[in-house]
Amino acid sequence: MKNSIVIGMQWGDEGKGKCVDVLSSKVDAVIRYQGGANAGHTVIIGKKKVILHLLPTGILQNKISIIGNDVVVDIEDLVNEINQIKKHGFSAKNLIISSRSHILFPTHKIIDNAKEQKRKNKLGTTKSGIGPAYIDKYGRKGIRTADMLNKKQFEEKISAFINLFNKYEADYYGVKKVNKVKFVKDMMILRNKLHKYVMDISIVAKDLIDKNKTILFEGAQGVLLDIDFGTYPFVTSSHTIAPYAFCGSGIPVLSDYQVIGILKAYTTRVGKGPFPTRLTDREDQVLRKKGNEFGAKTGRARNCGWLDLFATKYAAFLNGTDKLIMTKIDILADMDTVKVCTGYRLNGKLLRSFPADTDMLDKIKPVYKTMNGWSKKDIDNLKKGIFAKSIKDYIKLTEKFTGAKIMMLSTGPSRKDIVFIEKI
Ligand code: GDP
Ligand code: IMO
Ligand code: MG
Repeated sequence: MKNSIVIGMQWGDEGKGKCVDVLSSKVDAVIRYQGGANAGHTVIIGKKKVILHLLPTGILQNKISIIGNDVVVDIEDLVNEINQIKKHGFSAKNLIISSRSHILFPTHKIIDNAKEQKRKNKLGTTKSGIGPAYIDKYGRKGIRTADMLNKKQFEEKISAFINLFNKYEADYYGVKKVNKVKFVKDMMILRNKLHKYVMDISIVAKDLIDKNKTILFEGAQGVLLDIDFGTYPFVTSSHTIAPYAFCGSGIPVLSDYQVIGILKAYTTRVGKGPFPTRLTDREDQVLRKKGNEFGAKTGRARNCGWLDLFATKYAAFLNGTDKLIMTKIDILADMDTVKVCTGYRLNGKLLRSFPADTDMLDKIKPVYKTMNGWSKKDIDNLKKGIFAKSIKDYIKLTEKFTGAKIMMLSTGPSRKDIVFIEKI
């Protein structure tokens, strides 16, 4: 397989974890390059269900698994996650944390929560501390995992960090001050468990490239949650788009790579923000139940809607998407017809591109094309390589809009529920 950047094409939860797990059997290294523990990537292997928040999914295939520099590393969650995968019989021995990554502390989560509570127009964050951690990074007051390599220096830095929190931030956000002695002690315990994984990945990166190893960049969230290109301000605080994979990982721009977009056969969104193809409340509930659309991170109900090819076309363009994997096609089975959004109309006029003005998205009217549905039997046949006409048409229309080729169809949550259209 080629070096591949795998990204979510919608508002997250497209099934990236499942797809990266399948793809990573064919690569040497997997790198998570942005975001943090706001992600929830589900992998089902036999009877085991593993949900990864920070660990690259390749860890379940024993691949070199790198947490890149633009990930904000929640050290509390990471230790828990390592314990969780060990309980499932997997190992963390191939884990590497880029020493240039920033640490997300429990105080970032406290601030995220407090800010969200105070907001009149809620963003619906995952309360994982993502915004506050990136604010510290870009405000140049963050602490990096590199600091964990020097015990004394780390202790001094977290001491100063918590002093600042207690002196200014706690009052500003109206939250309780933190017990400094306990905080420093707790962070040092986490440091002692994690520092062995931390290193300057430039040497590993060079080695991977010199030896012609295959790298998979695992994106979190989705294009429409990108800080610049998503539905701002209802976005996350990092760049989720494929071009950022290199910046967020410390791998130079490669001469040969492909971008694989993960596209759910319908659309879901968790948290606040515009959602043009959202179904009516009743239909939404039906699809949510069928698709088990509840957040892998927070358990919140995900809103559901029809496939939005107008937004997907925008996502495909931004990412330079070469290939697509369409997931959850099984969930749409047994509907007489399915709808697909092919354009947005505002005041009677068709928009030429996905609007930057987020308020506009609340006013647009989606233009729908109604297509024939498929049955459960058609999904069974699909697994045998027999494609129903309605499924072929759905694929064709998606490829026409995105200019990307559908390489696989995912027909269930498990590792084995995959139909290869193209060999990997
Ligand atoms: P991610 O954040 O993109 O990795 O996606 P999540 O793990 O948050 O959500 C995707 C959900 O759909 C998980 O519960 C997966 O187990 C499940 N899933 C993935 N692909 C398929 C599929 O093709 N069919 C069905 N029925 N479930 C799927
Ligand atoms: P994966 O990788 C779906 C959403 C939140 C909220 C917004 C901002 O599993 O696809 P944040 O906590 O990042 O400040 O929240 O982004 N969000 C996700 N939605 N899947 C995710 O990750 C998400 N990560 C963040 O719901 O609307
Ligand atoms: Mg998820």
